[in-house]
Amino acid sequence: MAVKQFDFGMIGLGVMGRNLLLNMADHGFKVIGFDLDEQKTSAFEQAATPGTTVKGVGNLKNMTEELSLPRRIMMLVPAGKPVDDVIESLLPLVEPGDIIIDGGNSHYTDTLRRVQYLAAKGIHFMGVGVSGGEQGARTGPSIMPGGDEVAYPHVQPMLEAISAKFKGEPCVAHLGKGAAGHYVKMVHNGIEYAIMQMLSESYDLLHRGAGLSNDELHQVFDQWNKGDLQSFLVEITAAIFTQPDEKTGNRLIDMILDKAGAKGTGKWTSQDALDIGVPIPVIDMAVTMRNISALKAERTNAAALYANKVSPVTTDKATFVQQVHDALYFGILISYAQGLSMLHRASTELDMQIPLPKVVRVWRGGCIIRSTMLDVFSGIYDQNPQLENLLLDKQIASMLQNTEAGMRAVAAAAVQNRFAAGCLLNALTYFDAYSSQQLPTNLIQAQRDFFGAHTYQRIDEPGSFHTEWKNS
Ligand code: 6PG
Repeated sequence: MAVKQFDFGMIGLGVMGRNLLLNMADHGFKVIGFDLDEQKTSAFEQAATPGTTVKGVGNLKNMTEELSLPRRIMMLVPAGKPVDDVIESLLPLVEPGDIIIDGGNSHYTDTLRRVQYLAAKGIHFMGVGVSGGEQGARTGPSIMPGGDEVAYPHVQPMLEAISAKFKGEPCVAHLGKGAAGHYVKMVHNGIEYAIMQMLSESYDLLHRGAGLSNDELHQVFDQWNKGDLQSFLVEITAAIFTQPDEKTGNRLIDMILDKAGAKGTGKWTSQDALDIGVPIPVIDMAVTMRNISALKAERTNAAALYANKVSPVTTDKATFVQQVHDALYFGILISYAQGLSMLHRASTELDMQIPLPKVVRVWRGGCIIRSTMLDVFSGIYDQNPQLENLLLDKQIASMLQNTEAGMRAVAAAAVQNRFAAGCLLNALTYFDAYSSQQLPTNLIQAQRDFFGAHTYQRIDEPGSFHTEWKNS
């Protein structure tokens, strides 16, 4: 009879699984990990801190037999079928009351389905978003659990121990019902796509537009990271510009092909935003720009056909650097606002009850989109947890107004000089539309009624109206 001595089990000892489990062991928990790949189980054991209790196994039954009850098992496997496969292989080995956690980037509708499927068998299933990459997993990720409130207290001490800390506060909290954990992580990734795209647009404007060298770019981003743009993504961007390429001696950034990959979470964010009718155009554009980047061969042909070349930006360097700073600040703020407005809507629309004050607190440390801005948002949501959109807050309004002129100057420079700065431009358009009492959509209503008798509302009396339009 195996001794049930382990506190926590992990299925999948890839980069994230291994590092999360080692992190847990460092915090005094006894952990056991399963992987079919023997190299991974032994690498896992070898990487353990001396004195910690860590075991790697290649047989799932061995793992489940050695876990204390209720069993707490996390899987970190690729999203989709592998998650269902793991669930099926676990089912004969677990018992009612046990807790299975999916820590990967699963689509939230899959998570909802699995919650229901396993609840019928008495098994608790939780979808938990984990952000922070390899380093974060090892030393402190941001963790976004949701769903089963009965199961949560059983995993809360572990998740709090291993999570990143912001001013001493763990970057983990229960973030809502059902599949809320994975939903929040999906939107986190949408915002991640938007910020990354705007950083690359800023890089382009400064590099090809204003002629900054890699060393100058490093200095600019490094400086920005010491001010109000302080964030993980600005920090790593600064570091990227100085990395040498071992093969050629050039800077590595100059040797990387301009084709972006994507695993799908950004696309899911856009798809779901369309489904629930929330405008998030900066995130949509970030997904689209990655898709355009992937069309390298077509772009190459089109470039020859149009002979379109970017032209140098004529604004003096120091002024332009400040304007790009302001544009980036403005754009990043708008990206967070869009993502958070989506969570606000999903909270009621999908009955997830997502607590926005907790979401922004959890994002302040450990995750890819962590930044000082999030601490500002935390204060704002504490005052008004039901705020529909950050843009409606006075403090945010002044942050946007202080950077708006720079944003407009950069947008004009981008358009004038043929820079494809889609996300920055979209951030401005969203701002202009969202802050407009009057939009030209009265014409769209007239057209819909003209060709389809879809009716329209009037500004001077309630009700729906239809007109027999004359085709003069
Ligand atoms: C994180 C990241 C992580 C992963 C992205 C990459 O929060 O740690 O978001 O989950 O690196 O999903 O996504 P793409 O491959 O789609 O860029």
